[in-house]
Amino acid sequence: MKITVETGDFRQKETDAVLIPMLEDDFHNELFLAADASLDGRIQAFLNLGDFKGKPKTTSVLYTNGAMTTPRIILVGLGIYTELNAEKVRQIAGHTARYLRDMGLKSVTVPIPPETQDDWAQAAVEASLLSLYEFKQHKTQSDKDDGDNKSLDSMTFLVGSDAEKSQIEPIVERGETIANGTILARDLSNQPGNHLTPTQLAEKAEEVAEAVGLNCTVFDKPTLEEKGFRTLLAVAQGSAEDPRFIILEYTPESEGHETVALVGKGITFDTGGISLKSGKGMDEMKHDMSGAAAVLGAMQVIGQLKPDVRVIGIIATTENMPGSTAIKPGDVVTSYGGKTIEIMNTDAEGRLILADALGWTAQYNPNGVVDLATLTGAVITCLGHIAAGAMGTDDALMEKIKKAAEKTHERVWELPLWDDYDEGVKSKVADVQNIGDGTSGTIAGAAFLKKFAEGYPWVHLDIAGTAWGMKGSSYIPEGASGYGVRLLVQLVEDW
Ligand code: BES
Ligand code: MN
Ligand code: ZN
Repeated sequence: MKITVETGDFRQKETDAVLIPMLEDDFHNELFLAADASLDGRIQAFLNLGDFKGKPKTTSVLYTNGAMTTPRIILVGLGIYTELNAEKVRQIAGHTARYLRDMGLKSVTVPIPPETQDDWAQAAVEASLLSLYEFKQHKTQSDKDDGDNKSLDSMTFLVGSDAEKSQIEPIVERGETIANGTILARDLSNQPGNHLTPTQLAEKAEEVAEAVGLNCTVFDKPTLEEKGFRTLLAVAQGSAEDPRFIILEYTPESEGHETVALVGKGITFDTGGISLKSGKGMDEMKHDMSGAAAVLGAMQVIGQLKPDVRVIGIIATTENMPGSTAIKPGDVVTSYGGKTIEIMNTDAEGRLILADALGWTAQYNPNGVVDLATLTGAVITCLGHIAAGAMGTDDALMEKIKKAAEKTHERVWELPLWDDYDEGVKSKVADVQNIGDGTSGTIAGAAFLKKFAEGYPWVHLDIAGTAWGMKGSSYIPEGASGYGVRLLVQLVEDW
């Protein structure tokens, strides 16, 4: 869908419908009054019947019967003014966009009142685009046309003056840019393992970097061997697909900026390896690269929005497969940084590849490092599909992440990472082992990572619950949510 900003009078717009936003506690906004006057008081008469109350996520269609250029006026309920916030706006915008599409409309016009807050306008743009997302790449054309293949093609924001237009245009563009980054992440996470191998993920990263002007370096298997990425190679050794290590760099033009690193787990398919997962639901493990997808989606946005902070995007990617060459429980491997790891369970592979990635990251002297990983099933038991588990070594960075999470409604919930938990990842034969003691699985994952996230402020986000299956929101579809892109972009922009 294309979103544009125009000036003019909604009563003279050639469009399938004009949307009139309506507060539950105050119907008589200027737009309503103008529309009602053109329709000889028919909207007021309709309201008098009590059929529409302005409740959030409710709509009413009125037909203009030639009294205006548009054939339809659609009242959109916003609820009570003091209860409105950015997330409510997202929910309403997402709900409305889906409703308009399902009605079969192609073009709609939305008059924007001059007092509209910037963050609400951005929220409306993001949610409208995100709500219409579908992953249909692998449907054949005939099948695509079979069902209700409806699409809302254009949304026009209508403002009163050129000054308002030049104020809102960049906000619309920002919203589009951020939505597109989230959509990229969703597409990558939804992509089946045979269509997104580590090599293909690296190619995609190069393509994105080229398009938005980021530096991109990809290490192939011989380079990884030469540089000593031994734990990434260990996880990859059971697979016919070669691993990759991807580094994306954005550097602002100004001097004296700080550096933030974003690190993503990129398991393109997680079978569990020799510690094989059970068959039920294993197909979903195609999204075990959702951390990597969030990092790549965020880097695409960062390349376009050009914030005043240096951002390094780091992705470790491989498959986790069983086979005669695969790692085995009990094997000991040495990480990039030199610490030894006893592999107690080959299904705890995400933390292994992140050990190398977090070790590599230290050389950038980052002022903050955030890793995103679909690390543990336990985080779903703990927080459901509502919030990511957040654990780290730095309170200031944690606060920044909580603020960004609040603004974007990509929620996080902090779990403790006290030293008391270190005991659980101790190994009898190596420096550390990879499964903990069987309690507090999500924290055990973080306690393991903490051993490798040394020399910088660090927060780990366990996104196993939020990256997938976050249904129930009007702008998040089934399957991949694209969680993390909006959060990371907000974090970097507020840095
Ligand atoms: N990728 C999984 C975690 C996961 C589970 C992601 C469900 C999304 C949905 C991860 O590699 C894994 O298998 N973790 C194990 C760790 C255990 C062996 C210590 C788990 O959670 O069972
Ligand atoms: Mn696993
Ligand atoms: Zn995994």
